[in-house]
Amino acid sequence: MDKITPIEFNDNKLILIDQRKLFENEEYFVCDSIESVYFAIKDMVVRGAPAIGVAAGYGMYIKALSLDTEDIYAFRSKMQEAADYLESSRPTAVNLTYATRRMMAVINNEWNNVAELISALNKEAVAIHNEDVQANKVIGENMLSLLKNAKSVLTVCNAGILATTAYGTATAAMYLAKEQGKQLSVFACETRPRLQGARLTSYELNKNGVDVTVITDGMVAHVMSKKMVDAVITGCDRVASNGDTANKIGTKNISIIAKRFKIPMYIACPTSTIDLGIKDGSEIIIEERDASEVTHIRGVQVIPSGVKVFNPSFDVTDHDDITAIVTEKGIAFPPYDVTLKVL
Ligand code: MRU
Repeated sequence: MDKITPIEFNDNKLILIDQRKLFENEEYFVCDSIESVYFAIKDMVVRGAPAIGVAAGYGMYIKALSLDTEDIYAFRSKMQEAADYLESSRPTAVNLTYATRRMMAVINNEWNNVAELISALNKEAVAIHNEDVQANKVIGENMLSLLKNAKSVLTVCNAGILATTAYGTATAAMYLAKEQGKQLSVFACETRPRLQGARLTSYELNKNGVDVTVITDGMVAHVMSKKMVDAVITGCDRVASNGDTANKIGTKNISIIAKRFKIPMYIACPTSTIDLGIKDGSEIIIEERDASEVTHIRGVQVIPSGVKVFNPSFDVTDHDDITAIVTEKGIAFPPYDVTLKVL
């Protein structure tokens, strides 16, 4: 695969490919403070649930390095503030709190001194990163086992290399199919307002030789009605105990249309995206982003000034409209309230 490195940690700095600038420019954004990591997540320099989690893990470590105290209690309290701060950057993807809570669990262990604790935090941030790399490929293999006769799949947003650390979640099967010489073509929905499908998914699939066709979000029913899609594969930001799944706005439309045309709807995610702490999708906080994302496309105003705009960034796909949830620990089929627990 062509090397895209969305996240690196070098010399105590977090280096992120700046996803706001893609596809036109491959620029890197360097974070050397927790404030810069917060900004990178909020402004979507780094985006996609697993990538946000990995960035948050390193953000916590960067904060730990900056604290000038030998008092473990003071250290813990400052780090809890740091975790709360990072968690407030984006509310929907559970991977963010998954990472901050793992880092806090390390901090809340017994330690002889702060130096020992900081070294353990480094190991934990690297472990969160490495686990995501490992998970991606296995998710792809598990997904491919469901796609035996599929020739064409549809996806939305970007649940690819850029949103993770390696093969992506939704895209992992696409890359593995390519590596194994299987024909699998991809429809990437444009994904208004921020165009993650048009800008990012097309960029990375095309760069890696996967056959990709971009369609606007309104074309989904048409291509499905023409039997041009054999399966839908999307990523997700949070899975509730009953299998309701939050993902990029528009995913719910796709799931409803897919059901109408009897096309399987597969969700790809690492188990770090599963939140057994919530009963169903009504408990998932849906981020609302700035109106300017809708009123402007890449700096050009497309809606008259003064017109009202609504900009929810995610929606919740009903568990009844999901054929399977594919993780690195196996594939969950309905009833999800039973199967997700035993992954
Ligand atoms: O707002 P974004 O771009 O962070 O939204 C990302 C998505 O909705 C992805 O599909 C999801 O996080 C899964 S990424 C593997």
